[in-house]
Amino acid sequence: MEPLNVGIFGFGCVGQGFYEILSRRNDPTIKVSKIVVKTPGKKRPVDEELVTLNPKDILDDPSINLVIEVTDDCEAAFEIVSEAMSKGKHIVSANKKMIAEKMDDLVELQEKHGVLMFYESAVAACIPVLLTVGTFYSGEKIKSFSGILNGSSNYILSKIKNDGLSYEAALKEAQDKGFAESDPTMDVGGFDAKFKLLIMLYHVYGIAVKPREVLNIGIDKISKTDIEFAASRGFSIKHLASASINNEVVSAVVSPAFVPKDLEHYSVEYEFNSILLDGEYTGKHFKYGRGAGSLPTGLAVYSDVKLIQSGFKLQETAYQDVNFENSYEIDICLSSSESVESFHSDFTEIYSTSSFENRNYLFGKISSDRLSLLSKEDVSIIVLDELNHILDSETIVTEGGSTI
Ligand code: HSE
Repeated sequence: MEPLNVGIFGFGCVGQGFYEILSRRNDPTIKVSKIVVKTPGKKRPVDEELVTLNPKDILDDPSINLVIEVTDDCEAAFEIVSEAMSKGKHIVSANKKMIAEKMDDLVELQEKHGVLMFYESAVAACIPVLLTVGTFYSGEKIKSFSGILNGSSNYILSKIKNDGLSYEAALKEAQDKGFAESDPTMDVGGFDAKFKLLIMLYHVYGIAVKPREVLNIGIDKISKTDIEFAASRGFSIKHLASASINNEVVSAVVSPAFVPKDLEHYSVEYEFNSILLDGEYTGKHFKYGRGAGSLPTGLAVYSDVKLIQSGFKLQETAYQDVNFENSYEIDICLSSSESVESFHSDFTEIYSTSSFENRNYLFGKISSDRLSLLSKEDVSIIVLDELNHILDSETIVTEGGSTI
């Protein structure tokens, strides 16, 4: 095994998790030489000699052959990673935003400089989904996948549903526990889950899709009544990132969804993540585990470091020449405390309307382009994954007031 001399950028939750695991593992083949941080003078659980504010202490040190990039600054991270690769250093990163935005460049840089970059910790932390897709499933055609990829959003939805917390109190808990991003809009607005979905799209379908091409709807508008409405009909609202392929065309969306009891994601609660792959040859494969937290994410970083050390490479996807479609029709439920009549003209088809407590619900088909423009303070959107199922459970009232 090639001995690794490691430089770390960032020593927050993930960096410290990795360092703790490495220390406990006592692996003589991996040495951390420098840790670059932003804030001087902070008390850190590491020998102060290792800590520096100067990126050049890592980038200009030819003896450092692997860089762990675990900051949350996308722009600076890309500069660090590009320079490190140009100097022949391998990379392990947890920076999902940077990886999602720069996938094409990062692939090119690895090829150009003959180095490896691994980022399992960036997608669902300790669920090794990229490893699964790039090894065992490399001969499989994955027809669709869906995931609960943002632990904070799932934590908030679970806390409201199971423990009666308010949205604000649940978000505060997610922040206090260290699951949330430094800007929690990334979590509750569906951006973080989208970055993870985009990374999966590259590994599952071989396409580098840009963040602006995928619609993301967060949980920030979901009301307690929406959650109770779903529960009263046997559903749970989960924040899902989903993609599927039809005739070599991929479509994807990130949104709250009605999840029925028989879908594997139904019982995934709090900060846990889950991923459901549906393969042409193998059928369903479900993965469940912690998607955030210092040691789970640190373990994913450690695992990537060991894979690079062994010279391991992920296999390419079984798909070739796949296209991405960002304009499609989708079945949704629109929820509002006002009348939903003013939204009728936005829909291409209306299935039914309904009310529950103080809210009104409109079930219908809408184009994704139109949906992306529907942003009103009091309106929440829930995707209908199992359309017939929830409509069956509904007393459907047509516009004229008669019951179907
Ligand atoms: N903010 C992220 C989450 C952290 O809540 O899932 C892990 O990527």
